[in-house]
Amino acid sequence: MPKFPRFILGVSVAASVLLVLPSIAQAQKTKKPAASTTKTLDQRLDELIAQMTLEEKIGQLNQYTGDAATGPAVTDNNKLSQIQKGQVGSMLNVKGAARTRALQAEALKSRLKIPLLFGLDVIHGYQTTFPIPLGEAASWDLAAIRQSAHIAAREAAAAGQHWTFAPMVDIARDPRWGRVMEGAGEDPYLGSQIAKARVLGFQGEQLGGTDAVMACAKHFAAYGAAIAGRDYNAVDMSERALWEVYLPPFKAAADAGAATFMNSFNELNGIPATGNSYLQRDILKGQWNFQGFVVSDWGSIGEMIAHGYAKDNKEAALEAITAGSDMDMESRSYGPNLPALVREGKVPEALINDAVRRILRKKFELGLFDDPYRFSNEKREKQVLADPQSRAIARDVARKSIVLLKNDNNVLPLSKQAKTVAVIGPLGQSKTQHLGFWNVSTDSTQVVSLYEGLQNKLGKTAKLLYAKGCGITGDSQAGFADAVKTAQQADVVVMAVGEARDMSGEAKSRAEIYLPGQQEELIKAIVQTGKPVVVLIMAGRPLIFNWTADHAPAILYTWWLGSEAGNAMADVLVGDYNPAGKLPMSFPRSLGQIPIFYAAKSTGRPSANDKDTNYRSAYLDMPNSPRYAFGYGLSYTTFDYSGLTLSTKQLKKADKLTVSFTLTNKGKYAGEEVAQLYLRDVVGSVTRPVKELKDFQKVMLKPGESKTITFTLDQDKLAFYNPSMKWTTEPGEFRLMIGSAASDIRLEDKFELVD
Ligand code: BGC
Repeated sequence: MPKFPRFILGVSVAASVLLVLPSIAQAQKTKKPAASTTKTLDQRLDELIAQMTLEEKIGQLNQYTGDAATGPAVTDNNKLSQIQKGQVGSMLNVKGAARTRALQAEALKSRLKIPLLFGLDVIHGYQTTFPIPLGEAASWDLAAIRQSAHIAAREAAAAGQHWTFAPMVDIARDPRWGRVMEGAGEDPYLGSQIAKARVLGFQGEQLGGTDAVMACAKHFAAYGAAIAGRDYNAVDMSERALWEVYLPPFKAAADAGAATFMNSFNELNGIPATGNSYLQRDILKGQWNFQGFVVSDWGSIGEMIAHGYAKDNKEAALEAITAGSDMDMESRSYGPNLPALVREGKVPEALINDAVRRILRKKFELGLFDDPYRFSNEKREKQVLADPQSRAIARDVARKSIVLLKNDNNVLPLSKQAKTVAVIGPLGQSKTQHLGFWNVSTDSTQVVSLYEGLQNKLGKTAKLLYAKGCGITGDSQAGFADAVKTAQQADVVVMAVGEARDMSGEAKSRAEIYLPGQQEELIKAIVQTGKPVVVLIMAGRPLIFNWTADHAPAILYTWWLGSEAGNAMADVLVGDYNPAGKLPMSFPRSLGQIPIFYAAKSTGRPSANDKDTNYRSAYLDMPNSPRYAFGYGLSYTTFDYSGLTLSTKQLKKADKLTVSFTLTNKGKYAGEEVAQLYLRDVVGSVTRPVKELKDFQKVMLKPGESKTITFTLDQDKLAFYNPSMKWTTEPGEFRLMIGSAASDIRLEDKFELVD
C-alpha cells in the first residue's frame, strides 16, 4: 500500500486510517453512471439533488483521508462501507491512477453512483518537484510560475487527482512562521499576481481538461498573521489590514476562477475562520460572488471546540455550515450531526442544498459524471510522469528562483581557471532535502544534489572535493578539521548550508531563525582559510546569518529548489545562467525586528536613516532597515536606470498615467532585471505606507543593450480604503519611485492627482 514519507507530513500513518480495497480488476467491472449531454448543468444538478435523501446530500459534504494523514486523523475502520453508501463526497491523500480508480469504483456502488472527488496537497509539483512556492515567488516570473503550476496539475491529473489544495495565498510578514515557504511572501500586489498565475496554471484552459485540476485558494483568511509567527495561533487585526494586505491575493484567486477555497485554522478577531460568516458568506460568497465551494481545513470544524467557540461537534457543525463552510475535511462533525440539526430546524435544508450543489457542480464541470475514471488512467499517468520536458522546465524555474545576495570582487561566476572545487557543508550531497516540505510523489534518488550538479557541469575540467564539516543541527565540530583541510586543497569553496526541509512548513515555526547547529561556525572556519568562498543557503524561510553576510564574499539564497536543484545551482555558479531572483520577503537582521516589511507607515517621528535614533521611531541597538530588503537581488551584470518621464504631472481622475524610463545593461553578461514601481500617497484621509509596489517588469538585456520600459497606472493603483472603508482615490501628491529593490530606488518623481 502506498504511503507518504512520514517525516515530511509530520503525522504518522495510523493503520486505522488506511483503506483496504478490492482488486483493481474487480473495480474496473463496475458500470459507469449514465451520461447525459443534452441537459444544461443546472438541470442536471436539479434532477440529481431532487433524488437525494438528506443523508446522501450530507454525505457529499464529508471529506475523509485515505492512505496517509496530514493532520490528526480519526480512527475509522468503516470508511469503505461509508464510501459504498454514498456517505463520503471526497477523499484526500489517495495517490495514483490505480488507487483512485479502485476507490472510485467503490463510490459507484452507492445508490446514486456519485463519483468521489480526489484532492491532494500538490503544492510545488507532483512527481517533478519545483522550487517551494516562496522560492518560485523570488523569480517574479509569472509565466514561469504559471507553467510550473500547470505541469504539477498535468502530472497530478494524470495520476487520478481532481483537486490540489493550492495555491496558498497567505501574506506572511513573520519569518518565524514555518508556512512562509508555501506562499508568495509579504506583499499583496506581488502575492495577487502570483495567486492568479498559480490558479490559471493549475486549472488550465478550463476545468474538465485532463491536464487540469481544481485550485484551492487557502487559507481563508489571515492565517499568515498568526501572533508571534506561531502556527495555528490567533489573529487579531484591523479591518484595514485585512482588506489592504491579507485579502487581495484571495480576491485575485477568486477573480481568476479558483474553483475552491479552504478556510483556516486561526481565529480572526475572536471568531474562528471556519465559523466565520463575515469571511465566508459576506465577503467570499456575497461581495465576491464566489460560485465554487469552501472546504474546511483539516479538522478545523471540530477544532472550534478547542478554540472555545463551540461546546461540541454538533455545535461546531452548526456554526460551520451556517458560516458557509461547505465541506468538512476530516473533523467528522457534519456526517454525524447535520441530519439531526436539519430535523431539529436549526439548520435550514436550503443551506445543505446550497453546499451540495456547489460541490456537485464541480464534479459535473470536471466531467466526472460522464466518466468518473477519466483522471485515473494508468497509461496516461505513465506517459505524463515520464515526460522529460517537465524536468527541463523544473531546472529553468529553479535557476530563476535563486537570489544572489552578495558577490564581492566578482567571486561569481566561478572562474574557469578553478581546477579544484571543494563542496563543503551538510547539504552538499543531499538529495532529499531539496524537495522541501509538501513533497508528494518524488523519488528522492531522482533529485540532483549540488555535488552531482557540479559534477555534471565541471566533471571533465575540474576536480571536485567534498567534506561535510558538520550536521545541519547538533553541536559537534568534529568534522571541521577535515573540512578546513579540504578547503585548503581547493581553488574555490562552495558551501552548502541551511535548514533541514522539515524545519519549515506546517507546524514548523521556529523562534530562532538562525542557521541551525554549527553551520555559521563552519562558515567562519572556512572563510578564515582565505580561500574564495561562495555560500549557498538552502531554507524554507528568510534566515538570519549576520556573520556570513558581513564576511563571506559571495552568497546565493537557493530556498528548496526541487528535483533539478543541483543542476540549477551549478548553472548559476558557473555563469551559464545569470541569477535574477529578487526577495519576496524582507530578511531581518535580528529577531527583534520581526514583523518586518517594506510597506511600513512613516510614523510621526520617522528615523531619517539607520543612525537617527534621537526621539525617533528606531531601535537603539539595531537599524530599522532589514538585512536584505524586499525586491533585492543582484546579477552578474549591473543595470542603469535613467530618463524617467511621466505623461503628466497633473493627473485627472479617470485618466491613466504613463511612466517610462530607460534600462541599460552596463556589464559584460546578458541578464534580467526586475524593475519595480512603488508609489507613496503623500497625504491621505488615512495614512498610507511609505512605499507600495504597484507594478514590475522582468526584462532581459544583452550587454550594453538599453530598453524603454513603460508602466501604465490606472486609478485602481492609486486607490485605497478611506476611513469609511470605501475603495477610492483622493486628490493630492504621489511620490513615484522606480528601483531595483524596495531599498534601492534609482529614479523618483512626483505627480498630483487632480479632480
Ligand atoms: C493544512 C492544509 C492542507 C490540509 C490537507 C492541513 O493541515 O493546513 O493546508 O491542505 O492539511 O493536507
